[in-house]
Amino acid sequence: MNTKGFIFDLDGVIVDTAKYHFLAWKKLANSIDVDFTETQNEQLKGVSRVKSLEKILSWGNKTISEDEFMALMAKKNDDYLSYIDKMGESEILPDVPKILNHLNESNQGVALGSASKNARKILQKVNLISNFQAIVDGNDVSKAKPDPEVFLIGAKALNQKPENCIVFEDSVAGVQAANNANMISIGIGDKTVLSEADYVFKDFTEISIEFIEELIKK
Ligand code: BG6
Ligand code: MG
Repeated sequence: MNTKGFIFDLDGVIVDTAKYHFLAWKKLANSIDVDFTETQNEQLKGVSRVKSLEKILSWGNKTISEDEFMALMAKKNDDYLSYIDKMGESEILPDVPKILNHLNESNQGVALGSASKNARKILQKVNLISNFQAIVDGNDVSKAKPDPEVFLIGAKALNQKPENCIVFEDSVAGVQAANNANMISIGIGDKTVLSEADYVFKDFTEISIEFIEELIKK
């Protein structure tokens, strides 16, 4: 039987944690007198914690010491984790379990490829950790998306060639990372934003089992 590697981004694909990142970054930005809007939050999708703080500081024209930078990063994450601690299965995005269970039952490779250092914790909270054979997160990579590193490590962990892997991503940088890895990219979100993806769906409710079967046969 054909087996492929299916690699899922986490934030915005499996769970809607962007709203918690927004609340935590907004509180932090406002505490140092920097404005922070939902539009700016969009630009932080798929972007690492360090790079996100750098962007916020540059938007607010702020220069701070290395120690202050580290303290702000820790503060943001503590606040973010206060939301994560309350998460449960009800926050899994619609039809994600349907697709994951189908892939597991048909013995396909399933991995996580996320920039987040909190990925394991979140998967545990929503009770999906056992659906993944491999988890590659912000603790495992040195190069951020659109660099393909995170997905190439995922493919290796699944013992699959990159061209036999399929990536689900909600961010532009993530779609580019999948394309740079020579994988099939599936955008989850807006077609106009994710125009570089091979396929785009609004969410998993638009993805049929037949479509997944076609990808497996390819
Ligand atoms: C990405 C999110 O998945 O992870 C970004 O889209 C976030 O918004 C990044 O900044 C890093 O996450 P964390 O949990 O390590 O701060
Ligand atoms: Mg994402």
